[in-house]
Amino acid sequence: MLVVASQAGGSWAWAAFVNRCTHARWPLDRFDGQVLFDDTGALMCAAHFAVFDPLTGQCLGGPGNGRPLTNVPVGEDGEWLVIGPVPDGVPP
Ligand code: FES
Repeated sequence: MLVVASQAGGSWAWAAFVNRCTHARWPLDRFDGQVLFDDTGALMCAAHFAVFDPLTGQCLGGPGNGRPLTNVPVGEDGEWLVIGPVPDGVPP
């Protein structure tokens, strides 16, 4: 799972995705766990550089086949961030 935090105007927004790219289903992060973002702040797959919106998971370009990442629900419970569950039928 990949969790992304974005800050705009002093507040935080959170998103979580199954860590599988829509191109060739490789993990989005690099082998060392680093997550890449392009100059616009878009999330970039480390394998072949498909580009995704970091908060919605929509494919913005590259070889992601126009398909969005699989979202995982994120909510807040007091001071806690609650993530999940992963949608049924999604491979690990
Ligand atoms: S697996 Fe992500 S761009 Fe190819």
